[in-house]
Amino acid sequence: MLLKTDQISKGYGLGENRVTALQEINLSVLEGSFLALVGPSGSGKSTLLTLLGGLNRPDKGTLWIDDIDVYGLSGEKMADFRREYIGFVFQQFHLMPYLTALENVMLPLAVKKMAVQEQRQRAIALLERVGLAGKEHRLPHQLSGGEQERVAIARAIVNKPPLILADEPTGALDSQMGEQIMELFQELHRDGLTIIMVTHNLDYLRYVSQAAYLKDGRLQKVEEIS
Ligand SMILES: Nc1ncnc2c1ncn2[C@@H]1O[C@H](COP(=O)(O)OP(=O)(O)OP(=O)(O)O)[C@@H](O)[C@H]1O
Ligand SMILES: [Mg+2]
Repeated sequence: MLLKTDQISKGYGLGENRVTALQEINLSVLEGSFLALVGPSGSGKSTLLTLLGGLNRPDKGTLWIDDIDVYGLSGEKMADFRREYIGFVFQQFHLMPYLTALENVMLPLAVKKMAVQEQRQRAIALLERVGLAGKEHRLPHQLSGGEQERVAIARAIVNKPPLILADEPTGALDSQMGEQIMELFQELHRDGLTIIMVTHNLDYLRYVSQAAYLKDGRLQKVEEIS
């Protein structure tokens, strides 16, 4: 098991404003899975994703990734853990506007003791892999939304993290671009990456290997897909 949670619960706010976002989530994800997290707006999908990525801590519960007790780590160790283990992709691409596509993809490698030439080569190969050969030196505003999302995906995987977490990665794209991004995720899954993706588009379930259904902060079921 690459990832396993035990009874994760999370609420926001205090007193009568208290909102329970997640209740006693038990989820296991095998290495190599492509899991979709689905459910209505407000059901807790994004909350769960940020908890799984160690961007936030739950009120209760445990998360193991690769046998590491993630919430047992101190703040600094948790940041190291995130850098090494998790590639994040968001709906808003969060690219640096004044850096080229290539520089954006190289960014996570800057903290590594890797020769700059090697960083460049790896980033260029990845940009080619996601269909952006020839556009390495464009700034984000010179790329389409789908292309910017591809840069964000390349940046998320450049460190070769064992787990990719994506929150509505197609949410800002039209349906054709969305399908293309899903095809890219499907290819990455076939290459062996483990991916957990939030989506509200049930059409996209045909690309994934498992679907986990959230409702009112509870995990209703996990379904195996073909
Ligand atoms: N920072 C916050 N402070 C207070 N309440 C929050 C916060 N973030 C989320 N919530 C609440 O927690 C619940 C779960 O929210 P969450 O964002 O996880 O839902 P979601 O399934 O991702 O929804 P959507 O599909 O609309 O993105 C909701 O009731 C939401 O209002
Ligand atoms: Mg959300």
